Amino acid sequence: MKKIFSGIQPSGVIHLGNYLGAIKQWVELQSQVDEAIFCVVDLHAITVPQDPEALKRNILSVAALYLAAGINPEKSIIFVQSTRPEHAELAWILNTVTKMGELSRMTQFKDKSQKETVESASVGLFDYPVLMAADILLYNTTAVPVGDDQKQHVELARDLAMRFNSKYGDTFVVPEPLIRKESARIMGLDDPTKKMSKSAGSSLSYLAVLDDAETISNKIKRAVTDSGNEIKAGSDKPAITNLLNIFSEVTDRSVVEIEADFEGKNYGDFKNSLSEAVVSYLSPIQKKYDEIINDETGLKKILADGSRRAGEIASGTLVNVKEKIGLGL
Ligand code: TYM
Repeated sequence: MKKIFSGIQPSGVIHLGNYLGAIKQWVELQSQVDEAIFCVVDLHAITVPQDPEALKRNILSVAALYLAAGINPEKSIIFVQSTRPEHAELAWILNTVTKMGELSRMTQFKDKSQKETVESASVGLFDYPVLMAADILLYNTTAVPVGDDQKQHVELARDLAMRFNSKYGDTFVVPEPLIRKESARIMGLDDPTKKMSKSAGSSLSYLAVLDDAETISNKIKRAVTDSGNEIKAGSDKPAITNLLNIFSEVTDRSVVEIEADFEGKNYGDFKNSLSEAVVSYLSPIQKKYDEIINDETGLKKILADGSRRAGEIASGTLVNVKEKIGLGL
């Protein structure tokens, strides 16, 4: 049985890195597996400060985007993490088999807590990978489709599953990360040495999935390029390599084919075509998104149904876990 689980935080804009690194492969995978579950991970979002009204809107917005991208609620389960109490409960239990040292080594915690200091980072931010492990392990997940930056967290989920199994007997399925090589790490437009990110200092770092055509074109025009003027990928040309990867991902053509098209042409020609390609890739998604977000009742119904279906699986796992540990009456 192949079962996939993945999620995105509703903590602001969803950018092309999230889309190409995660959602695009979810849509492809949902029809190839026995069970596909996609979660809006709002409990993860509150590990850094959120405005309550904005968070409410962002939760619905991320769910609408899943649907607009082609996640089919008849095939897949879509739900909001905080509507299932099993996630926080299993996270607490997993905390008791997690080592402080393990969490201290998580690179995302190091990066995020450096923006402030470790002293003022929330305990939730530190513990975030354990909640992610709970998300994954509740659903007997075999594979977790994510971008490269989540690999270390999925590996922790594997370690915790194995540790729990050896301590209490076979309980959890041990999951694998599923990372597509081509889109594992979409880089920032303003700095191709850093991953495209919503928390980057400038909005010029990312293309948001909901950006309009003019914004997309302006951001691509201002994207940094490398020295020289050839449109060719290479390890010494991180900026153009990233733009070629994006071009390839949104057109489903190979980088080599695109390079051949732009032989003898300049960065300006290339950037214009890239903008057109990104706009025509995103505009049907944006159109569907507008329809879905304007039918809040319909959207909430899909999420309530997803939560009920998720609960049927999650509650079974949790009963089993508690039984193994000796909790309850
Ligand atoms: P989040 O919300 O930061 O990102 C969502 C997904 O987008 C991928 N991603 C990228 N992929 C390629 N290039 C980029 N520049 C880029 N930036 C982000 C991420 O790898 C991720 O797949 N902890 C997770 C959410 C989570 C989760 C889970 C995921 C919570 N529980 C259980 C899988 C399973 C996170 O913060 O992702």
